[in-house]
Amino acid sequence: MRTRSLEPEWLDRLPASDPRAERSRRDLRRINAIMGNARVIARHLGQASRIADLGGGDGSLMRAIERKLGRRLEITNVDTIHGLDVFEFLQHPGKVLDAIVANLFLHHLDAASLRRLFALAAVRAPLFIACEPRRSAPALWASRLVGLIGANDVTRHDSVVSVRAGFSGTELSTAWPLVEGWTLTERSAPPFSHLFVARRDGIV
Ligand SMILES: C[S@@+](CC[C@H](N)C(=O)[O-])C[C@H]1O[C@@H](n2cnc3c(N)ncnc32)[C@H](O)[C@@H]1O
Repeated sequence: MRTRSLEPEWLDRLPASDPRAERSRRDLRRINAIMGNARVIARHLGQASRIADLGGGDGSLMRAIERKLGRRLEITNVDTIHGLDVFEFLQHPGKVLDAIVANLFLHHLDAASLRRLFALAAVRAPLFIACEPRRSAPALWASRLVGLIGANDVTRHDSVVSVRAGFSGTELSTAWPLVEGWTLTERSAPPFSHLFVARRDGIV
């Protein structure tokens, strides 16, 4: 898996009310729990409370983050299933945001779209946190086994596709537009995640 490969995911093509899509979103909750993504993101949020969750799906991940933090957040769930496209949202000045979060979403984007999204995100909030599939042999192995936790056909398909479109090395940092005035962190978040944090200097 030297380079990313992008293929359409079935969940993106099914109507939100389709029973297979609803079931797949429930599968995602368990997969997020196994990946530990809520814990990883919560650890980097600091005092942020006004948050946009890009591709936030059913909102369960941000609810898990609230539980971990033990406080309520002001969340805007930017997902096409709620009639909100991420690019539309980011390019129109709106609410003041302390942070932008993306969980299992950035891997949907090709390199050009990723750079465009980051350029917009960097002017909308001083903190950006992404937790994505790690493009690694262990993650690919695990993605082929999601049937063992009862995942349906949509999730089984999308899991493997997501890892192949996932990230490694400093691929996300390279796409971030600004180096001066920002601190970038990018690393593996075991067992199967890839973490990227962009923090404007001076933000705690
Ligand atoms: C793999 S799911 C992850 C959902 C959620 N973040 C989670 O961890 O459970 C990806 C989500 O991105 C949404 N999505 C895909 N393209 C989008 C776009 N252009 N704008 C907003 N949401 C989008 C899909 O509807 C889907 O809910």
